[in-house]
Amino acid sequence: MIGTDGAVGETEVVSVQDEVDDVSRETQLSESEKAADALARVSREASGDVADIPEAGADTPLAQAVAADTRKRMTLVGRELPRPAHTRVLTVANQKGGVGKTTTTVNVAAALAQAGATVLVIDLDPQGNASTALGIEHHAEVPSIYDVLVDGDPLSKVVQPCPDVPGLFCAPATIDLAGAEIELVSLVARETRLHKAVSKYVAELGEQGQALDYVFIDCPPSLGLLTVNAFVAGSEVFIPIQCEYYALEGLSQLLKNIELIRDHLNPNLHVSTILLTMFDGRTRLSAQVADEVRSHFPDQTLKASVPRSVRISEAPSHGQTVMTYDPNSSGALSYLEAASEMAAQNAAENSEDRS
Ligand SMILES: Nc1ncnc2c1ncn2[C@@H]1O[C@H](COP(=O)(O)OP(=O)(O)O)[C@@H](O)[C@H]1O
Ligand SMILES: [Mg+2]
Repeated sequence: MIGTDGAVGETEVVSVQDEVDDVSRETQLSESEKAADALARVSREASGDVADIPEAGADTPLAQAVAADTRKRMTLVGRELPRPAHTRVLTVANQKGGVGKTTTTVNVAAALAQAGATVLVIDLDPQGNASTALGIEHHAEVPSIYDVLVDGDPLSKVVQPCPDVPGLFCAPATIDLAGAEIELVSLVARETRLHKAVSKYVAELGEQGQALDYVFIDCPPSLGLLTVNAFVAGSEVFIPIQCEYYALEGLSQLLKNIELIRDHLNPNLHVSTILLTMFDGRTRLSAQVADEVRSHFPDQTLKASVPRSVRISEAPSHGQTVMTYDPNSSGALSYLEAASEMAAQNAAENSEDRS
């Protein structure tokens, strides 16, 4: 009897908690997001041609945003994107925390995989946020990137498939990685250990007739040995920049470090891609930061920018990327747009690698 009572009580608690969660999510969604959602549903249901969608500028800002999303949905969703001729290794770095490195890594990686590419995410942050967002086990006993860096295990021993997205894989980070920064100091070739592991893994897959199209390395918010390993492992740096007041502070330090690595350890290293994240179209500050970044880095900054979105921030708590959690949301569409621009860079990046 006691057991039954207990069970009933628990169910009630769970359902009440669910309702509370729903209510708090509802209240978190801003009025404009709710309106945009509703309008987006209407426009999804209406059949038609991309040409029928009004150009931005003709109507209210909200209508413009919905029209822009609908256009992206019709032109990008479900499309195959061109794959690179050689594996592109991108280090997602910015020593500031909370700027959207992990969010960008997992969502761009998922978008590219959904568009037909084979993609590996290497979680190099001891917090393991990328592993969580990709629904990958990463408790202390799981073989992880720590074993690769410190013990020299092959990547193939630790890589796991992402359960929701075919073609997407993850080398998880466990809490062990927190000690790696110190343990690496005394190891031989401490800066090139990740590079060796990635090259070997790409070659192994090649021998089996499989191509790895992209490797994304999600860095911790520091410029220590873990990040140095990431900078040596690939030739491209991908910098997410948050459209906030302090966004550009620290960027010159990051660029100086990249230059140092280029001079001493990896002559191919260059900033290939910058993505503006948490963009809020209603504030002048966001627009100012975006203008400044675009004027300094006209070739590297993607045209797509990622809006601040509740859907993006709640996806990880479901062990998902926003690309599967809510693929029609404006956050998911903007990551898909960023991915398609990155796929368009393929030809240029590969010819640079060969030169
Ligand atoms: N476009 C966005 N809209 C809303 N929240 C976001 C967005 N991008 C990231 N976030 C949230 O901001 C926080 C920091 O993002 P994260 O990707 O973990 O940054 P970093 O890896 O640089 O520390 C997380 O809670 C994340 O869910
Ligand atoms: Mg992170």
